[in-house]
Amino acid sequence: MSASVSPQLSAFALDVVEGLSCAGQKKISPRYFYDELGSALFDVITLLPEYGLTRADERILQSHAHNIVSEVGPVSIVAELGSGSGKKTKHILQALTRAGNRIIYRPIDVSRAALTACERDLGETSPVEPVCADWIEGLSEIASARTRREPLFLLFLGSSIGNLERKEITEFLRRVREHFQPGDFFLLGADLVKDVNTMVAAYDDSTGVTAAFNLNLLGRINRELDANFDLRSFTHEIRWNDTERRIEMHLRSMRRQRVYIGALDASIGFDAGETIWTESSHKFTPQELDSYAQASGFTVCRTWIDEEWPFAEALWKAVPT
Ligand code: AVI
Repeated sequence: MSASVSPQLSAFALDVVEGLSCAGQKKISPRYFYDELGSALFDVITLLPEYGLTRADERILQSHAHNIVSEVGPVSIVAELGSGSGKKTKHILQALTRAGNRIIYRPIDVSRAALTACERDLGETSPVEPVCADWIEGLSEIASARTRREPLFLLFLGSSIGNLERKEITEFLRRVREHFQPGDFFLLGADLVKDVNTMVAAYDDSTGVTAAFNLNLLGRINRELDANFDLRSFTHEIRWNDTERRIEMHLRSMRRQRVYIGALDASIGFDAGETIWTESSHKFTPQELDSYAQASGFTVCRTWIDEEWPFAEALWKAVPT
């Protein structure tokens, strides 16, 4: 790789080559879906009739913003892991402002494009101070810059928690908790287990938008890492894993082929039928969410569940550890 390649690009290149050259199941992290095109495709996914998740998240926030804000009490900083859709977060920011809070909204995202969109969508509701960083790194920056008297309210919406490996979730939540003071609040949106056909259709929509979102990962590798993936020789595949209670998203190679990645001067072989595992979307039960809270230093204040599309919005308070 040339010396002029940026650190982000080289991390991307190294992760890709490592994930594709390991023995056994090839993998690429879902964090790399979100370049400009991938973020735009994800925005379209949230509008798909089959993908009820975002609408359920927003319905709860819209109908219960007032109740959420009354439970939380006075707040100075609203931070969000993943800048999310301004549309959803707006309900909370507006309710907080209506309740008399003077807040600063601090979205944390690795994507500059997402942060810019967020500033555009929410700048009129409250001052926005974005942090372009990984989630924990950004949270640490926000937490260390605040004074003791600035209560924090952290949002983690849209079931992004489901994209972590199940065994990593408690550890991740404990790391989040380390940056809280007792009495700070955490609002976690998580998609619940439901009928298998409904869950599969949400990731295998009839318009093919999720397939395009998945394939764009290979397109991004071509564009940014000078590779020669033939996107037409891979297909989008969705599996429900009942033991792990998750949707698994793969890209299946339709023929035996070799792909060259110029940025690393590496070539990768694929057998016909071999897949790259690109994402897991875990689905939860409300009881499971309660036990995550308990295991990571939070107490559950209240959980709201959407009636149309089983989805939970859990409000937790940090307790002394
Ligand atoms: C961002 N994340 C919660 C989405 C999900 O449902 O796992 C990403 C996604 N992948 C395919 N469709 C949506």
